[in-house]
Amino acid sequence: MPANTSLPLLGGLTAAQFLADYWQKRPLLIRGALPDFVTPLSPDELAGLACEEGVEARLVEEHGRDAPWRVTHGPFDEATFARLPERDWSLLVQAVDHYVPAVNALLEAFHFLPRWRLDDVMVSYAPPGGSVGPHVDQYDVFLLQGSGSRHWQLGGLVADDAPIIAGIDLRILERFEVQPGEDWLLEPGDMLYLPPGIAHHGVSRSEDCMTFSVGFRALSADESITSFADYLGEQLPESRRYADPDLAAPLHPGEIDDAALARIRALILDTLDDPAQLTQWFGRAMTQPKYPDHPVASEHATEVDTLVAELQDGAVLERTPGSRFAYRGDGETRATLFVDGDGIDCPLDLARWLAGDEPLDARLLERPEAARLLAPLLDRGSLSWPSQDGDDDDYREDEA
Ligand code: SIN
Ligand code: CO
Repeated sequence: MPANTSLPLLGGLTAAQFLADYWQKRPLLIRGALPDFVTPLSPDELAGLACEEGVEARLVEEHGRDAPWRVTHGPFDEATFARLPERDWSLLVQAVDHYVPAVNALLEAFHFLPRWRLDDVMVSYAPPGGSVGPHVDQYDVFLLQGSGSRHWQLGGLVADDAPIIAGIDLRILERFEVQPGEDWLLEPGDMLYLPPGIAHHGVSRSEDCMTFSVGFRALSADESITSFADYLGEQLPESRRYADPDLAAPLHPGEIDDAALARIRALILDTLDDPAQLTQWFGRAMTQPKYPDHPVASEHATEVDTLVAELQDGAVLERTPGSRFAYRGDGETRATLFVDGDGIDCPLDLARWLAGDEPLDARLLERPEAARLLAPLLDRGSLSWPSQDGDDDDYREDEA
């Protein structure tokens, strides 16, 4: 997607303008970002998903003064929904893009951002008064109003140590002060972009309030260091360790002197400062699937000849929803293709295609090594054939 095309999704800004002025910097309200957006699933269908084993779902209820907030985690059942009052609760379901193809398709609109930054699409439903309380997220998020209306208020940047309400499994801020002018009613098709660290509070103002949160993840320093160290650690020889052939006799035998600290510092920094290893780890880390049960390996190994014949017959493979692809070029013609936490050496143009937006059709076969590469990706479930029976809504519809 060219960076200098005006995008209706961004209120007419180009991707370059949005990135320069708003991304990770300040909120942006976009009226009519997706004016024709029709919520691709109903509240009942969302509730049905929240009853499925393995789907991450939460119910947030707001009560009176004494026990103001209650959070429960799915899977839920019909009885849960039957007991809920007429107002003041929210149902939140994560990764709906993995289960509902039309929600997955919504992500195409966000391809002006690196795809490997994407976390998931969370969908919420709330009757009037429902919210998750004023809070802060550490992620960039685009809050698209799907149906009904939600009243959003922003409370500015919040420090890491801002007090939160104790005793509940939600990080609701104890204090929330609306910033002047940062108070809007969002209607279907409107969207609010929020960078990390901005306090926000969105309250349903209708019977049918559904909000689609397109979230972008970023590794914390803590996660990065631990994960990179783990990756390196698996490959380091036992013999690579603190060494002091330059040791001088200590004046005080208990003292840790400057030279000792310099030696351990050099060992750590020299080990970490390995660009090739950093690339291999980062690609794997950024394509690690959101849930450990993804992808699901296919039961039968793919015959390369059959795969070629199917593609030549007009079949088109799809990137399995929830699978993550990225690549890093290695010289002029080769690359590492990262798929669902793994790294595969392959031709650069093939990696670019697989990790891009182009359909995975017979044209791929013109590339050397394509069939040999596609078969194992199908076997491990990162690629799949679109469902044959036309029934692509494999979520339950009538649970609630
Ligand atoms: C919601 O959809 O209710 C909340 C989304 C958010 O604030 O992150
Ligand atoms: Co939030």
